[in-house]
Amino acid sequence: MEQRKKHKKIYLIAGVVLAAALIAGYFFVPYAKRHYIPVSVDMAEAAAMEKADMGERKVLTVYFTRVGNSEFEEDVDAVSSASLMKDNETLVGNSQLLATMVYNAVGGELYGIQTEKKYPSAYSDTVSVAKDEMDSDEDVALSGTLPELSRYDMVVLVFPVWWGTVPGAVKSFLQSDDLLGKTIYPLVTHGGSGAGNSVEDIRKLCKADVSNDVLEVFDDDVANAAGAVSEWLKSLH
Ligand SMILES: Cc1cc2nc3c(=O)[nH]c(=O)nc-3n(C[C@H](O)[C@H](O)[C@H](O)COP(=O)(O)O)c2cc1C
Repeated sequence: MEQRKKHKKIYLIAGVVLAAALIAGYFFVPYAKRHYIPVSVDMAEAAAMEKADMGERKVLTVYFTRVGNSEFEEDVDAVSSASLMKDNETLVGNSQLLATMVYNAVGGELYGIQTEKKYPSAYSDTVSVAKDEMDSDEDVALSGTLPELSRYDMVVLVFPVWWGTVPGAVKSFLQSDDLLGKTIYPLVTHGGSGAGNSVEDIRKLCKADVSNDVLEVFDDDVANAAGAVSEWLKSLH
């Protein structure tokens, strides 16, 4: 009886401590909120970069992200918005911020892949849609005009890992015949799995050379990744 009471007390204390830690994290660790609501980021500050010299190489930075390809409601704060950031009132995707860092360091051109269809606002619904896309091997239609690839030697490809590989929209981009003779440098953001099969899949999907120098950035680290991106770019000489 005494033993049972003791256990009950321990569970109660543990529960209270856990609840207090979660509440404290939510209110006092700004970035911890990002799995529930978009968190603030100052794009100009987060993507302020040292210049990286790419020599004679002409660089195109291509990215895909949920922002701009999803139907976010006005009150996006009220939905499950893991991986979203906000610069004042403007939503910012992880891949978009990483791609902006690259562009600010190397110049050239920055291009965001746009899909014809829009993904759902809620993170979990997008995860389901992406699973269906993958299972049915859907050809995800892109909108807009792709950049003139013949002008570039080097493509930095920035994307989120979706189900352990590249999102369908990135697969569609990779099927362009004009990638022949270019080198792709993958910059991958993920929620814990790392690049998964994405790099091997890029190799299977496209005619470009794909570098082994891959940078992986955990989603919680994106806003503070300028140093890592800078080091990576410098190593690509
Ligand atoms: C449809 C979908 C599938 C995902 N699959 C994975 C996964 O397999 N492994 C992983 O670590 N993270 C996964 N994530 C998390 C994203 O890769 C991660 O949050 C990324 O930083 C989001 O970048 P974005 O803001 O540019 O979209 C997934 C996210 C979505 C929306």
